[in-house]
Amino acid sequence: MSELDLELSPTHPVMDSARPAHTGAGTEEARRFRALMREIAQPVAVLTGRDERGAPWGLTVTSFTSVSMAPPSIVVCLGSRSRTWSRIRPTGRFVLNVLGPAQRAVAESFAAPGAPFPGVPHRYTIDGIPVLAGTVAAVRCATSSVLPGGDHDVVLARVTRVRLDGGLPLTYRDGEYVAAEPIEVP
Ligand SMILES: Cc1cc2nc3c(=O)[nH]c(=O)nc-3n(C[C@H](O)[C@H](O)[C@H](O)COP(=O)(O)O)c2cc1C
Repeated sequence: MSELDLELSPTHPVMDSARPAHTGAGTEEARRFRALMREIAQPVAVLTGRDERGAPWGLTVTSFTSVSMAPPSIVVCLGSRSRTWSRIRPTGRFVLNVLGPAQRAVAESFAAPGAPFPGVPHRYTIDGIPVLAGTVAAVRCATSSVLPGGDHDVVLARVTRVRLDGGLPLTYRDGEYVAAEPIEVP
């Protein structure tokens, strides 16, 4: 069996938050699952929002993807204990700022747990959501529903506006930030 073989029993409730003793982040299964997921490169974004008093917040995320074209919808998974998410969640609005390869430091500063909004260039939408400068894309979202997903919240959201500046995104694989590159066609 190779290091990354992940043999979970078909009946093992990986996503069942009702059985935390068997699904804790410190278990061997969790470690191997994390090792598997680390191998898969994912684009990096900063999810920004504001709290109910108007203060800006943001956290680095890779767990986002499109769900539906009609209506345009995305999903993003946020740690249910994230302080940043708990502040943004009540407003029902956020922006996914998809980072470019020159924005590694931005990703790092928004990944610091409990940190206030760092001093990075940004502007605000009319409803007070911060939008980062220099990104590949900015996707404005309105939360439709929040589902429990083990130790994360699975956030389904309608896309209300998109700004696409283009370019390849910053990606994250095996604990490192990596620039995506086009494949040369011979
Ligand atoms: C590359 C990278 C990707 C991440 N992706 C996610 C993610 O998809 N969802 C999430 O909840 N946290 C993710 N995190 C962790 C959060 O960015 C980090 O825990 C955050 O700062 C939470 O802090 P808080 O507890 O103060 O909210 C990621 C971190 C890094 C470095």
